[in-house]
Amino acid sequence: MMTRTVVPWRRLAGATLVVARGLFSHAFDSPVPGRRKGVACVAILVLLTAGCGSKPDEAEHPGKAIYQRYCYACHQAGIADAPKLGDKDAWAARLEKTRAELVENVKAGMPPGMPPRAGCPACSDEELEAAVDFMVLRVQ
Ligand code: HEC
Repeated sequence: MMTRTVVPWRRLAGATLVVARGLFSHAFDSPVPGRRKGVACVAILVLLTAGCGSKPDEAEHPGKAIYQRYCYACHQAGIADAPKLGDKDAWAARLEKTRAELVENVKAGMPPGMPPRAGCPACSDEELEAAVDFMVLRVQ
């Protein structure tokens, strides 16, 4: 026998409206009836988007997790002369290379400081590329 979970959308929407009404109660008291609906919609939109970060491009960058896991150890503090994350001077000469060249050096490694595939043999090419993009984005 199959059981289905019924999502009480109507009740959820009702509850959201009640919360919105509480937060924006002064606006709901508007004597112009047409305006009430508009205010309710705006209030719900505000509530729905309130959780979004201010810098979505960086926070959700696909390379960020890879960076934090595999590149942070050297690039955050500049271990073994690794160019630090966000350090424009350290990255200036490297930014003259093409993306392909940077990625190639990460894959091959740069002895003695950086091991091949940046020390992550299990990382895919795409993951290494994303991490390079994330680092480059921070110095542009
Ligand atoms: C064990 C330390 C270490 C780790 C881990 C590491 N790096 Fe590096 N990285 C270095 C060092 C040291 C250099 C500078 C090498 C040089 O210029 O000789 C470097 C240089 C680079 C460069 C510049 C390449 C160029 O052509 O100038 C890029 C891009 C880079 N790393 C990306 C990454 C990425 C992406 C990761 C993680 C996936 C990572 N690194 C992990 C030490 C590390």
